[in-house]
Amino acid sequence: MKQLFWIVLLGAVAVMVRGGSDGEISFEYHRYEEMRKALVSVWLQCPTISRIYTIGESFEGRELLVLEMSDNPGTHEPGEPEFKYIANMHGNEAVGRELLIYLAQYLCNQYQQGNDTIIDLIHSTRIHLMPSMNPDGFEKAASQPGEIKDWFVGRSNAQGVDLNRNFPDLDRIIYINEREGGANNHLLQNMKKAVDENSKLAPETKAVIHWIMDIPFVLSANLHGGDVVANYPYDETRTGSAHEYSASPDDVMFKSLARSYSMFNPVMSDPNRPACRKNDDDSSFKEGITNGGAWYSVPGGMQDFNYLSSNCFEITLELSCDKFPSEDTLKTYWDQNRNSLVNYIEQVHRGVKGFVRDLQGNPVSNATISVEGINHDITTAKDGDYWRLLAPGNYKVAASAPGYLTVIKKVAVPHSPATRVDFELESMMERKEEEREELMDWWKMMSQTLNF
Ligand SMILES: *[C@@H]1O[C@H](CO)[C@@H](O)[C@H](O)[C@H]1NC(C)=O
Ligand SMILES: *[C@@H]1O[C@H](CO)[C@@H](O)[C@H](O)[C@H]1NC(C)=O
Ligand SMILES: [Zn+2]
Repeated sequence: MKQLFWIVLLGAVAVMVRGGSDGEISFEYHRYEEMRKALVSVWLQCPTISRIYTIGESFEGRELLVLEMSDNPGTHEPGEPEFKYIANMHGNEAVGRELLIYLAQYLCNQYQQGNDTIIDLIHSTRIHLMPSMNPDGFEKAASQPGEIKDWFVGRSNAQGVDLNRNFPDLDRIIYINEREGGANNHLLQNMKKAVDENSKLAPETKAVIHWIMDIPFVLSANLHGGDVVANYPYDETRTGSAHEYSASPDDVMFKSLARSYSMFNPVMSDPNRPACRKNDDDSSFKEGITNGGAWYSVPGGMQDFNYLSSNCFEITLELSCDKFPSEDTLKTYWDQNRNSLVNYIEQVHRGVKGFVRDLQGNPVSNATISVEGINHDITTAKDGDYWRLLAPGNYKVAASAPGYLTVIKKVAVPHSPATRVDFELESMMERKEEEREELMDWWKMMSQTLNF
């Protein structure tokens, strides 16, 4: 254990010396060990604002590493929203993996150089970066000789499972609930055990499901390659047809989120960008964004799973026509995506946020926050804190919980930042007690007046 630590440490120092101790970004591919070292070197350079952890192991035993960046690494601060980027779930889609490594280095460098935008972002947000959800697939893809990689080799995990088709298909459930009534959020509630025992789920999928359900993520993106577009829910069509616009209840906000990425990427937002391949059907792409189902239906994907199993809104980013482009193009991809990557994280600070407490000031966790006209509720986290992403407009927002009287507030939401709205919920017991006291007072008054 100790020995391993020193090997990693020496490796990191070697990387730092090669890359320059001022933390220059080196635009090259990182194999598994190199990725580890790159993340460790960020942590060594910025130890007060970063932490490395693992959410589990791949089928072949590689760690699913996460670099967290926050002013209080390792803890959820009440009121502070959590954000994540996941890349390389298709092991042969390599650009996103590298961009997240560069993003970690960039955030650390800029923080140290006193960039106020980045300092504010890290102080107000807990950011989680997972450069590779499928490290086994990446190793397989990267091991092919020569510059030109096969279109499919390394896409699946080591068991041959396509991880972006492997999540529980909650779209099917929500489409039934839409018609027949039923929950409109957290569809896997109290089913963690069933997830653990499901032998069809790959270890990478299980680890990510636990991660999604354990941390109160608000916003996320899933980085892919093979095309250039920002794709938003739903990915699976309602009728089962191959192409069909499949709006979620948060369609307006999801479009705005996808646009917040594409608009800062000059290639993605270029209306005259030629299709990646001659026969590609990009007819659903508009301003660099597309509804998932309108493009092509994906059952069992991670994006819709986030939205339907947790409070987290996720979009899917396609970053490059080539899935595994040559190393000398990586800097160009970074230049195209850097502002988008930072701007998209900032979207976590939109909508309505605040706390739900009882009259004694105790947090009410797992309270429901609903917005009139949007059939998708979110819930409060452990400290009663909540974040409800919303596009600009006027809304009626309600907070409710079993045993409490519901409170409704009118809220004006600007583009950003989020409007702070706290709720104080009176328990029904307290209300009964009050009513009893009122009745007693009235009775006393009456009896005095009437001289009983
Ligand atoms: C600070 O960071 C922002 C966001 O990435 C960037 O747009 C800006 O250019 C940076 N400022 C400097 C002085 O580098
Ligand atoms: C959260 O609340 C919902 C409905 O109010 C309930 O079904 C669920 O069991 C609660 N979850 C937890 C973890 O308490
Ligand atoms: Zn992909």
